[in-house]
Amino acid sequence: MANLCKTFVRSFASSAQRANVFNHVTVIGGGLMGSGIAQVAASTGHTVVMVDQNNTILAKSTSNIQKSLERVAKKKFAENPGAGEQFVKDTMGRITTATSPTTCVSHTDLVIEAIVENLDIKKKLFRELEAIAPEHTVFTSNTSSIPIGDIAVASKRKDRFGGLHFFNPVPMMKLLEVIRIPATSDATFDKLLGFGKDVGKVTVSCKDTPGFIVNRLLVPYMMEAIRLVERGDASTRDVDTAMKLGAGYPMGPFELSDYVGLDTMKFILDGWCQNYPDNPLFQRSPLLDKYVAQGKLGVKTGEGFYSYKK
Ligand code: CAA
Ligand code: NAD
Repeated sequence: MANLCKTFVRSFASSAQRANVFNHVTVIGGGLMGSGIAQVAASTGHTVVMVDQNNTILAKSTSNIQKSLERVAKKKFAENPGAGEQFVKDTMGRITTATSPTTCVSHTDLVIEAIVENLDIKKKLFRELEAIAPEHTVFTSNTSSIPIGDIAVASKRKDRFGGLHFFNPVPMMKLLEVIRIPATSDATFDKLLGFGKDVGKVTVSCKDTPGFIVNRLLVPYMMEAIRLVERGDASTRDVDTAMKLGAGYPMGPFELSDYVGLDTMKFILDGWCQNYPDNPLFQRSPLLDKYVAQGKLGVKTGEGFYSYKK
């Protein structure tokens, strides 16, 4: 264990010494994903600005990052709590917050957009950023389901545009999907792959198709579970137990839906249903719609398919 810890400290130190591909990263959206992305970027030596709509949201995001870092530090520096405390302090010291993206992108190297899963809102944001960001700045989206090319139409720098799709919880999930559109330059794509390495993720790539690899498989599976319960074939609890104990998944599909956020699930499905109405896997679900209409969005609101109220 002690050796493992030393190895981690050494590898962290050497990765912090090695020059990162990007230095200054702007993460727009400080929700579930944006806060996790800001955390991993800062913990790997990047200077990070996290942007959200108001300071109340940003205070919650910052507090979530602090708590998550403490969990990471407790495990990674089990033998050396002092080094763990320093790691948390150094990481937090690299993160600042802002309520206006336009004030921080004027000197940033990489923008990672992680706001609500809505094409028009994402396009509006990139249109605003385009006017302010320096020439060299690379724009990316963490979208779950929208083709990167559809978002990039809002930007003139299509050769410096791509997708960086992280997974929830970002500090724990090792994968990063790196997506290029036809216009993305080789230099930009290489930088994005390099950034993935810098933040300690394993990267995979695929064409700019709906849901990329993971969500194209995962979301239909989760929706099939919801439809199974809609038909009355089994209970949510039994479906979750079945998939955890019978298929070895760490969470059942209902626990995972609550974890992802039922609003995000609905945004994904509504977009796909509109664009691909003939695909039976992309049909809307009355049960999902009902929960979202009731404001039961999962873990983040304290209730979804399950209750998380203490
Ligand atoms: N920050 C830091 N550490 C965390 C953490 C976080 N947010 N969440 C969990 N951990 C750590 C805990 O500290 C714990 O560490 P120890 O083992 O040292 O105690 C470890 O992870 C395990 O956590 P828990 O005991 O609380 O719970 P768990 O064993 O069930 O693991 C999990 C939690 C890693 C989230 C696991 O349940 C899991 O992998 N679930 C599936 C997640 C998944 O499928 N994500 C993809 C969602 S889809 C997506 O992201 C794409 C999209 O576009 C929608
Ligand atoms: P979330 O609801 O937790 O957070 C979104 C945040 O964006 C909120 O804090 C909101 O205030 C902020 N926001 C909205 N519009 C904004 C704007 N114009 N400027 C600045 N901030 C704005 O959502 P999330 O789960 O973090 O998802 C964010 C993105 O990441 C979405 O595109 C989603 O599809 C994608 N994604 C989600 C998951 C997941 O498991 N939840 C996984 C991978 C990717």
